[in-house]
Amino acid sequence: MRRLAILLLILTLSSSLYSQNENSTKIDLITNVINRNLISLDGRWNYIVDPYENGFYDYRRRPYDEIGDRTGGFYSNRKPADKTDRVEYDFELSPAMTIPGDWNSQVNELKLYEGTVWFKRDFDVKKKSDKRYFLYFGAVNYEAHVYFNGKKLGVHIGGFTPFNFEVTDLLEDGENFVVVKVDNSRRFDGVPTVNTDWWNYGGITRDVFLIETNATFIRDCKLQLNNNDLGMIEGFVQLDGAKDEQNGTIRIEEANINYKFKTGSNGYATIKIRAGKLNLWSPENPFLYNIKIETETDTLKDKIGFRTIAVKGTDILLNGKPVFLRGICLHEENPLKTGRAYSEAEALMLLNWAKELNCNYVRLAHYPHNEYMVRTAEKMGLLVWEEIPVYWTIQWENESTFRNAMNQLEEMIVRDRNRANVIIWSMGNETPVTEERIRFMSKLAERARELDGSRLISAALEVHRKENEPFTYMVDDPLGKYLDVLSFNEYIGWYDGKPDKCSKINWEFGYDKPVVISETGAGALQGYNADSLTVWSEEHQAYFYKKQLEMIGKQKQIKGMTPWILVDFRSPRRQHPVYQNFWNRKGLVSSSGIKKKAYFVLKDFYDKIENRK
Ligand code: GCU
Repeated sequence: MRRLAILLLILTLSSSLYSQNENSTKIDLITNVINRNLISLDGRWNYIVDPYENGFYDYRRRPYDEIGDRTGGFYSNRKPADKTDRVEYDFELSPAMTIPGDWNSQVNELKLYEGTVWFKRDFDVKKKSDKRYFLYFGAVNYEAHVYFNGKKLGVHIGGFTPFNFEVTDLLEDGENFVVVKVDNSRRFDGVPTVNTDWWNYGGITRDVFLIETNATFIRDCKLQLNNNDLGMIEGFVQLDGAKDEQNGTIRIEEANINYKFKTGSNGYATIKIRAGKLNLWSPENPFLYNIKIETETDTLKDKIGFRTIAVKGTDILLNGKPVFLRGICLHEENPLKTGRAYSEAEALMLLNWAKELNCNYVRLAHYPHNEYMVRTAEKMGLLVWEEIPVYWTIQWENESTFRNAMNQLEEMIVRDRNRANVIIWSMGNETPVTEERIRFMSKLAERARELDGSRLISAALEVHRKENEPFTYMVDDPLGKYLDVLSFNEYIGWYDGKPDKCSKINWEFGYDKPVVISETGAGALQGYNADSLTVWSEEHQAYFYKKQLEMIGKQKQIKGMTPWILVDFRSPRRQHPVYQNFWNRKGLVSSSGIKKKAYFVLKDFYDKIENRK
């Protein structure tokens, strides 16, 4: 009897381990934000560095905002009532920094700071009685406690996805203020966890907007071409507000579409538009349609491209034709300022380097990049792999870690599922082959398919040598069963032997699926020239690429690649004082924006592939 009870207990625990929490099915993210009525809160925010979280906890480590103590908590932005009143902080008299923007690149003392910084912004609003108001953050790394006119709105965890809170009832007609407690401390139960190979840029790293909407507005919509029916545009429209049952129209002028719909009692309408022959989006023809959705109480515009993406055997089919993904990896970092890249201009700078490389594809590693990066890539004709930071040694058996990863996945997909150039959702990077990890990541893959069944699912896996065959490398990770594209990272010739080892390798892929190399690369200090065997020289990096590309070119099942990485990037793990100096030097472009020799080796390979067609 006892054994049965224990078995039942284990079954109950394991099934609950990965149950999605009630919030994970309810997503109130407002999408297509850049096309809405916005009041920008970007600009100078006062900040207070708070390593002991003295503005959040009292001396007994009790959160001020839970014990309702408005005297000590920085969230209330309290002013001394008179000369007898002691207040031990003052935002207005504290320094300011520019938001969006990480603190590491703006304040030298905070270059390596990990902990809490408080931010405060005053702003005036002419409040309209028939409107609703939402406070929107493009991203805050890593944990944000948000307060509006002294009231707590909530907490967001995850440093790379957007979130919003309704503030209609708290907004004053006139003066308002926002206080945000940002904590970028790394945590073992975090997503990512404590060890990453990128700089832990903390702060309000993307745009902050006050979104003004009608009482009932179009909160979200999805419009995509059916992968199996080139003439069918399908998706949904989701209203938010009391007047949920409405008539609406979707107008796509360039396609002569004027589609009528009606939302049901939950403000939701399924969309199925029988379209004529469409001008399909592709890297060669990144055509975007002007979309206008009108309901009785709202109008929303967007630019959306239509294309199909699928796998067939070992091919990736874009609009029904096999495509080779000529890619490169990017971090979301502007090397010239050594900070988070958050603007359209920075996206253009980085993506132009990719276009000049003759790329048709980019892997936005290792976390969702800002929306400008995705939309700019879409306009430029660059296909995109997006990824959540389920990276290396995540706590696979921790329920709150799983819910955190799930939440970041949902926010990424909901934000970008109308972007035609996004073709792959990646569940993570270089994760160990264990039962717990397979369960964790396969659940994420299942949810990704629920939210958006139109794209391919992948993850950057690892390779291993075949037993007793030191030069036969295998990619047969059991997680591959849940993926559409088999992707893996390999560093033969850098972390594993010398570059000429590449010519000895045989590959065995455990699945009859398209294979994409999600990473390969070698470091070089730009301007350091020596012979091709001298590590850290540009010549060595170029030789590495030559040998790698000879090897890759022979593998017919490989349908794409994103070498690591477009640009040198900051990392606290790269300490060599001459060759690294806290930079990972695997970039094909240096931290000063100079192209290294290897850049041209890869470009030549891509030119040949493109002309091979
Ligand atoms: C890994 C990892 C990257 C890292 C790279 C490197 O594959 O995915 O995040 O930067 O190797 O070692 O440079």
